Amino acid sequence: MIIAANFKCNHTRKSYAQYAQKLNAFLRFENNKNIKVYVAPSFSAFLDSEFAFKQCAQNIYPDFKGAFTGEIGLNHLQEFGIKSVILGHCERRTLGENDEFLAKKFDFCKANDLEIIYCIGEDFATYEKNKSIEFLSEQIKYIDLTYSKLILAYEPIYSIGKSAAKIEDIQKIMAFLKSKTKQPILYGGSVNMDNIKQISTLCDGVLIGSASLDVDNFIHLINKTK
Ligand code: PGA
Repeated sequence: MIIAANFKCNHTRKSYAQYAQKLNAFLRFENNKNIKVYVAPSFSAFLDSEFAFKQCAQNIYPDFKGAFTGEIGLNHLQEFGIKSVILGHCERRTLGENDEFLAKKFDFCKANDLEIIYCIGEDFATYEKNKSIEFLSEQIKYIDLTYSKLILAYEPIYSIGKSAAKIEDIQKIMAFLKSKTKQPILYGGSVNMDNIKQISTLCDGVLIGSASLDVDNFIHLINKTK
C-alpha cells in the first residue's frame, strides 16, 4: 500500500519539521513496515535527514541546473537526497504544463532513475460526456508505462478538493489502467477518513492533499488502510 501526501503550497520548513518527526516516529512501529509513505512538501521545506517515509518533490524542471528562473533542477533535489517526483498534477497542468512538456520531464526523470508519481485525470465535462477513458488513453500515450519506477496516480480533476469520485467510476478507471500498466496505481481526489478504507481496496494506494496536512489526521488515515 502506497500512501502519498501532497502538501501543495502549505506548511513551512518549521511546521514540516515537526510533522516529519511525528510521522517518522509513528512509521517506525513494526506493523507499518508494509506501508510505503511519501510526503511532498514545498521545496523550501525539504529536510536533509533520513526518514521512514520518502520525501518527494512536487515538480522538477527537466535539467540539472541552468537559466530557468523560478524552477528547481535535479541538482537541488539531489542535495536533499530526493529520488521521487510528482509530475503532471492538474494544478501544474492548469498553469500551462502540457503533455509534451510533461513527456520531457518524464524522460528526464527516467534517464536519471527517479521514481515518478505521474498524475492523470479528466475534468467534469469530459466525465459527463462519458469520455473519461478516451481522455486518459491520450494522457498516458506520452509516458513509458513499463518504467519500473513509475507510480500512476488517477486524480479526476472534478474530485480534487471537493468530493471523491464514485466508487463504480474509480473501479472502472482502475480496471482500464490496470490493463495498460503493471505499475502501481493510486487514486487521488478528496480522500478522507470516511472513504479511505473503501478506496484503498480498489487501488494500490492513495494520493492525499488537504486531509494529509494535519499529521494526526494523516496518521489516522494510514491506520484506516490496515
Ligand atoms: P485533495 O487533493 O485530497 O485535497 O482533494 C488531492 C491532490 O490534489 O492530489
